[in-house]
Amino acid sequence: GAAELGPYRHYMQKEIFEQPRVVGDTLEGVTGIMPELFGDQAFRVFKEIDRVLILACGTSYYAGLTAKYWIESVAKLPVNVEIASEYRYRDSVPHPSTLVVTISQSGETADTLAALKHARSLGMTNTLTICNVSTSAMVRECKLAYITRAGVEVGVASTKAFTTQLAALFLLTLTLAQVNGRLTDEQEANYLKQMRHLPVALSSVLALEPQVIAWAEEFARKENALFLGRGIHYPIALEGALKLKEISYIHAEAYPAGELKHGPLALVTEEMPVVTIAPNDALLEKLKSNMQEVRARGGQLYVFADVDTHITSGEGLHVIRLPEHYGLLSPILHVAALQLLAYHTALARGTDVDKPRNLAKSVTVE
Ligand code: G6P
Repeated sequence: GAAELGPYRHYMQKEIFEQPRVVGDTLEGVTGIMPELFGDQAFRVFKEIDRVLILACGTSYYAGLTAKYWIESVAKLPVNVEIASEYRYRDSVPHPSTLVVTISQSGETADTLAALKHARSLGMTNTLTICNVSTSAMVRECKLAYITRAGVEVGVASTKAFTTQLAALFLLTLTLAQVNGRLTDEQEANYLKQMRHLPVALSSVLALEPQVIAWAEEFARKENALFLGRGIHYPIALEGALKLKEISYIHAEAYPAGELKHGPLALVTEEMPVVTIAPNDALLEKLKSNMQEVRARGGQLYVFADVDTHITSGEGLHVIRLPEHYGLLSPILHVAALQLLAYHTALARGTDVDKPRNLAKSVTVE
């Protein structure tokens, strides 16, 4: 009801703005990296495994894709991420020393549960879930669990569940790195410090809302949009496009920016907004040349740039600056900006933001 919404117009907006708190809640009590945070048997399980298989659907799948970048770069374990509805029916090559990780807000998604059971039937018994509902089937079915503390998510399009999943997956990354002897005390202390700073950093991104609203008014008139990201922000581009599709019904596609010239560039005209995630990372110079490819064809760039990227607004180039550069945790901040863009675009189009047509909050049947 209205009382519950407080100053917000929709649950989705409220849930976007709850993120600083619920990400903090999800990491509450984490004073150091300890396998036990994932369950009593976690240390033994993490010692036994030498690879990771992540299974999920929808937004949770994109959290898994982000985790692949983290785990491979920090913990040095190979990671496969599979869409649950595909994995459950395809012939794959199982390996007994796999950590099977399911990611699910509800813990009741039929395809993800079936994919988990399929993995187990193939002899992979080391299972962990990152889940927002402690009483769910998923938590009962898995050996290990980390419960995110997003609280009840009402909006069908997931927001706070996603960022809390990412927080938990970053913690998993550090834990696997530690068990693998890949994490020095100094690195541990640094990462923990960055994680503790996440709520403040997220709040400063959410404070960009007025600038995002200005963009949303232009977006509301479009029927298509492209989202570009590279590296660890490619999954965030996918999630940004999914959010826009789900609630504004604008057709949106995401591409790793390096793939632009292998197809999507053909779609770029003055009519095509191209949302670009531009963190100040090792790929920035490459991204800038991808942006040039868009500009040269008259495409309209909408760039979420880190403060220190020196990307400035100009003809065909609109820039919103994120207040700080956030290293490995940057996807958690950039996605909040994209959530706001989808939300305000949908609002301007007058769609039913919290209950988009044809979609369900939790898909418990196949
Ligand atoms: C539905 C929801 C999405 C969610 C997906 C997976 O499609 O609309 O927001 O990401 O299911 O749900 P789960 O509960 O497994 O994370």
